[in-house]
Amino acid sequence: MAKLAVLLTLLALVGSVTCQGYTGNASPPTPITYPSPPSLSPSTSPTYPPPSSTPPSLAPVSPSPPITYPPPSPTPPSPAPASPSPPSLGLRVGYYSSSCPKAEQIVKDTVKNAVYTNRGIGAGLVRLFFHDCFVELVIKLAMASMAANKLVVFVLLALLGSSNGDGYTSPGSIAGGLTVGHYKGTCDRAEEIVRDAVKNAIRGGRGDRGVGAGLIRLFFHDCFVQGCDASVLLDPTPARAAAPEKAGIPNLSLRGFEVIDAAKAALEGECPGVVSCADVVAFAGRDAAYLLSGNKVYFDMPAGRYDGRVSLASETLPNLPPPFAGVDRLKQMFAAKGLDTDDMVTLSGAHSIGVAHCSSFSDRLPPNASDMDPELAASLQQQCSSSSSNGGASGDNTVAQDVETPDKLDNKYYRNVVSHRVLFKSDAALLASPETRSLVSSYAESQRQWEEKFAAAMVKMGGVGVKTAADGEIRRQCRFVN
Ligand code: HEM
Repeated sequence: MAKLAVLLTLLALVGSVTCQGYTGNASPPTPITYPSPPSLSPSTSPTYPPPSSTPPSLAPVSPSPPITYPPPSPTPPSPAPASPSPPSLGLRVGYYSSSCPKAEQIVKDTVKNAVYTNRGIGAGLVRLFFHDCFVELVIKLAMASMAANKLVVFVLLALLGSSNGDGYTSPGSIAGGLTVGHYKGTCDRAEEIVRDAVKNAIRGGRGDRGVGAGLIRLFFHDCFVQGCDASVLLDPTPARAAAPEKAGIPNLSLRGFEVIDAAKAALEGECPGVVSCADVVAFAGRDAAYLLSGNKVYFDMPAGRYDGRVSLASETLPNLPPPFAGVDRLKQMFAAKGLDTDDMVTLSGAHSIGVAHCSSFSDRLPPNASDMDPELAASLQQQCSSSSSNGGASGDNTVAQDVETPDKLDNKYYRNVVSHRVLFKSDAALLASPETRSLVSSYAESQRQWEEKFAAAMVKMGGVGVKTAADGEIRRQCRFVN
């Protein structure tokens, strides 16, 4: 008990230092014609602009600490056996209640966010406390002097990671000042309202699991262009000269917009002007992952994003990886967003659900050479040439991305990669480097490992380029700026 009190007080001390500057918030898809890669045989007719030869410039990325997941402990640790009376240091509970009332809350939020992103950090903090207390001199100094207090802050911040300066905050830190439970007190039912809208779309009367896939992809496409700021939701208007992101080639097949509209309408009814569209997209992506994984992929999504005012179709191709990307390009494009190779491989597992248009992978079908399993290639060719299928007027049919469990978010994707039963060159490319290949085989073997990593990577992606009140707004309608 005494140790717990010391921990709280130490953490509260950290909070006291951060108090001043703390801000407190921390229809079927439209058929598309994907471009063919430049090396394709002339039999295909590429309409996609040729991939840029210069890769996007890389933002500096701080190396992620190795992630180890200690098993979650369902019960609180049992109290330490009675020890000699604690050192009398004049400590008391609620020490900062008047000088910095939010001190403990601030520290709690910081730790919560860090641990949700990387459970290993929680273990690190417990160890930090232990090491600190066992050097008696340090604890006394920590209690007595601001200098020692600052040292603890420094170590804590180092453990939590720090911003790399490009707006993205590395794992473990509070990305863009986001917090779990951000709408508590301002719109208590915010997350519940979004979840109901997603549930209704997936499981309701006209339930469509495909919309769930669409929502996960929507979150990805939002975050990769202008950051997670709902820029992908903006409609074209007469006032805007330039076409919005929605009109960009990779976004023509996005779906799920109406689910976001439904959630936002309900939110505006309950707490107008409070919940950003960017957070709705993030919550919806999280909830879709939860529902489509059979409740296996569950995580808290930090929130507090603001909505952007800039949305340009011209920014989609340079920022969203094309289906014909090779492994180096994929790595570069994710790194440009502060996401590492592991994140890239982990997030690609979303291709275990949803559909793809034939035009997105026709470059891998005969007569073009590819490493695709011949049986799958033959089946796809048949589905893609069938006129009675689901291609609509354009004749660009859609097929399931995962033939085995098309509606279930699971690790089958990685088994498909191993057995060459994936659609895109970018999927197959994960076998092309030792690092990605080894991740693929370990995810293929462990569903649980992948689920945990996927949850953490979704949170990490949700921290990309987050906007604040300084450069964003809370939109009243998700399709239009205020
Ligand atoms: C690694 C680079 C990636 C590439 C090159 C890529 C490319 C694509 C393409 C071309 C499609 C099919 C579009 C169509 O033809 O209609 C697609 C579908 C999809 N992608 Fe990705 N993607 C990537 C990463 C991701 C990530 C990170 C996520 C989410 C975490 C994701 C989630 C999805 C989902 C769920 C679908 C199915 C959507 C639906 O059924 O409406 N993808 N992707």
